[in-house]
Amino acid sequence: MELPFAEPYRIKMVESIRCSTREEREQWIKEAGYNLFNLRSDQVFIDLLTDSGTGAMSDKQWSEMMLGDESYAGASSYYKLKAAIKDLLGFDHFLPTHQGRAAENVLFSVLVKEGNVVPGNSHFDTTKGHIEFRKAEAIDCTIDEAFDTTIDHPFKGNLDLGKLEDVLKKYPREQVPLIIVTITCNSSGGQPVSLANIKGVRQLADKYNVPVIFDSARFAENAYFIKTREAGQQDRSIREIVAEMFSYADGMTMSSKKDAIVNIGGFIALRDPELFRQASVFNIMFEGFLTYGGLAGRDLNAIAQGLYEGTEFDYLKSRINQVAMLGRKMTDFGVPVQMPYGGHAIFVNANEVLSHIPKEQFRAQTLAVELYIEAGVRGVEIGAIMADRDPVTRENRYPELELLRLAIPRRTYTNDHMNYVAVAMGNVYERRLQIKTGFAIEEEAPILRHFTVKLSRIWE
Ligand code: F0G
Repeated sequence: MELPFAEPYRIKMVESIRCSTREEREQWIKEAGYNLFNLRSDQVFIDLLTDSGTGAMSDKQWSEMMLGDESYAGASSYYKLKAAIKDLLGFDHFLPTHQGRAAENVLFSVLVKEGNVVPGNSHFDTTKGHIEFRKAEAIDCTIDEAFDTTIDHPFKGNLDLGKLEDVLKKYPREQVPLIIVTITCNSSGGQPVSLANIKGVRQLADKYNVPVIFDSARFAENAYFIKTREAGQQDRSIREIVAEMFSYADGMTMSSKKDAIVNIGGFIALRDPELFRQASVFNIMFEGFLTYGGLAGRDLNAIAQGLYEGTEFDYLKSRINQVAMLGRKMTDFGVPVQMPYGGHAIFVNANEVLSHIPKEQFRAQTLAVELYIEAGVRGVEIGAIMADRDPVTRENRYPELELLRLAIPRRTYTNDHMNYVAVAMGNVYERRLQIKTGFAIEEEAPILRHFTVKLSRIWE
């Protein structure tokens, strides 16, 4: 028999988690204003809110923490991370930041001005938030296939090069400060962008003389999909593919909390020394001196080590396979999920599960609350609440997709946990028609409202 594949690590330390009763959960979620961000973590059994900063660091990363150099300026930890970024990603210049959105804040402070447009593939919410905060517009150029959850397209994160060129033709160069390519594309379901598509974006960027910046949180998972799905890539290593991917970018923002498998951290990496010089000023203002940028030296060391571990093929294979296993089990129970399965998460199609509830009552949020009450599993709404209001009209925006995202932390949960989640979702799916109503907004913030929104149940 052919031997099955197994995780390329074993577990040295464990953390207790406790399952609560249904009555307890009903009470807690009510007290939380039906917002899962307001729950205490000990009210959650399996936490799939995010894969960001929730992974398990390795023994080698923890030992790197002990070697951290906490000098304010010129720490060896800074040079260690600088060397890792050059080695793996090919950039000469880098700025540490405390997380991904801080990298966006610093870089966009230089690049994005009022009235600008920023084309890209389904910009992540903080990315879009930082664009709209500057009174600029994020234009979504993702391929149409991405919005049909049933189509099994291998690269649903791809940009539609026709849509992108339309934007580049329509607006003068001064109004388009950058193109953003999000790898993998979180908001379209953790879906990858192909190497061919990245090259196509580069060609258009050259034609219209606009820089390309990668939003790179899950770049290694993107490379894994290129290796396993794109013609002619099978025999290349993950690191070769990563190097080629980034060779088409002028720069990158990174949330290290994902594919660098650390609990906190981010960075900007750039090719152009002048852009680096300008961004440095904002980095010092917002984040900290250039050689630590809002992080401890030990964090920089852990990121450097994590970048190497996150780009190992066997690790990526076990990670992506675990996510797919959860997807397959849910599919077996009849639950409609985004196809193909995403790199970091499974996305349940709430528009289909709860089609009998009006979209104005927030279907994906309703499903998220039901799954929590069912089993203590916390996912996150990627739907109308997260889509926020239109910045001009202030009307609610209803995106084409209403998804419940179940994001899997790296190296953290076992396959038995995945089985538990699948059964829980299967149970909710089975009783879906008994869920008669959703929620109304009671209180909300003017931007990024999903983090703090308070909801009330609508009764029949
Ligand atoms: N870009 C992408 C594609 C992301 O997924 C995230 C964060 C960020 C940027 C911002 O990074 O959190 O370090 O400031 N995504 C998390 C998530 C929060 O749950 O998907 P950050």
